[in-house]
Amino acid sequence: MPDLDAYLDQHQDQFESDLRELLRIPSVSADSNHRADIRRAADWLVAKFRGLKLTCDLVETAGHPIVLAETPHVDGAPTVLVYGHYDVQPPDPLDEWLSPPFEPTERDGNLYARGATDDKGQMLTHVLSVEAWMRTAGALPINVKLLIEGEEEVGSENLDKFIDANRERLGCDVVVISDTSQFADGVPAITYGLRGIAYYELRLRGPKQDLHSGTFGGAVKNPAVALSEMLSALIDADGRVQVPGFYDDVAALSDDERQQFAALPFDEAAFRRQVGVKATFGEAGFTTLERRWARPTFDVHGLTSGYQGEGAKTVLPAKASGKFSFRLVPNQDPKKITAALKTRLKELCPQGIEMELLDFHGAPGVVVPLVSPFMAAASRAIERGFGRAPVYIREGGSIPVVSTFRDLLGVDTLLLGWGRDDDNTHSPNEKFNLADFHRGIRASAHLWQELANHRK
Ligand code: BES
Ligand code: MN
Ligand code: MN
Repeated sequence: MPDLDAYLDQHQDQFESDLRELLRIPSVSADSNHRADIRRAADWLVAKFRGLKLTCDLVETAGHPIVLAETPHVDGAPTVLVYGHYDVQPPDPLDEWLSPPFEPTERDGNLYARGATDDKGQMLTHVLSVEAWMRTAGALPINVKLLIEGEEEVGSENLDKFIDANRERLGCDVVVISDTSQFADGVPAITYGLRGIAYYELRLRGPKQDLHSGTFGGAVKNPAVALSEMLSALIDADGRVQVPGFYDDVAALSDDERQQFAALPFDEAAFRRQVGVKATFGEAGFTTLERRWARPTFDVHGLTSGYQGEGAKTVLPAKASGKFSFRLVPNQDPKKITAALKTRLKELCPQGIEMELLDFHGAPGVVVPLVSPFMAAASRAIERGFGRAPVYIREGGSIPVVSTFRDLLGVDTLLLGWGRDDDNTHSPNEKFNLADFHRGIRASAHLWQELANHRK
């Protein structure tokens, strides 16, 4: 495809300026102060699609809008549904950013901004490859539907309803998502498994108001102590979750899969340096990759109680709360996990403390088939974009909609990640490598052709 490849070479500056424009919009889905920015990001996409003569709808939901676009129909050709998200995580802690999170800044071939890799940069690779096809050939060789939502980072609450109500409109042969990572520098990957998640907040109440810890301490149960006791009872020193029944449905790793993980060029010392720890931690009997990709875990995300200001204050706080989650693996059911957790927390809750458990988003873990004509096409496309064939990996993060696509549309997802493990997603100084951005656009552009070659 000489025209197409030349177009991609010649329009790199244009692609980067599109990315910068979108990154400048602070579309933080968790923060209601950013509602107007969320809307601006959705509008930016709608304008982009309409400018390319795609049909495009901005769909209102009870939360943030969904953008749905379609390329001109090609009879008899396969249909691909591209999913991505235009919302981003909150940027804090702000003082740890070397350049402001919504002023995209280039350093060492990387573009730094919140959302650079998760998911604006990765999602845009597909939008821009569609643009390249439209501007060179005037049409695509297959049917592409693009579904870009604004609530992924807050659990995709309104997306499932939309998919359920629009099964025909979203009908497709395969889903493509770029919202994961390569395995390592120069080692592109196709991800065939993701962990699920079950997310909670535990709220504890003790005395009717904060008390003097000298006058009352020792006679009244301290909610902050109760919270630490209860949360720490959920995991042992070896990283095993201590909720009866938690491991009942866990899909075991096969020897084959363990061997495949072990054969990947994973550097344990480099991993420790990357995250800045002297030792790794985790469930006994499993390697670091197994622990991250294929074993369930427990993590605490935030603790709130008592005095947080400067200096010391001898207070016995009236309440304490903690946010925490389990990452789940295939076959574990988030609803069953919630029921088992509730039972265990009731047992653990000490006298003199009232508890309330808030249940946030839940999503099951997924694995997709490794062998399919779609996988083969994706592998060839990645080879075109990145100069070498991908390895097959699993990842520890969650994309809740992948199981929804399987359950409601009956289709599998190709997880084609252009990011890197050290892109600082959800952290200060998020970045996306610009060479990876352009490689991703090229891989995507070739993917449409590779899939077209494989007519039904
Ligand atoms: N892009 C990530 C998912 C991801 C992260 C996949 C790392 C593979 C590796 C996505 O935007 C995300 O952050 N998902 C949340 C889901 C949650 C909000 C329901 C996650 O994994 O915490
Ligand atoms: Mn993402
Ligand atoms: Mn994310």
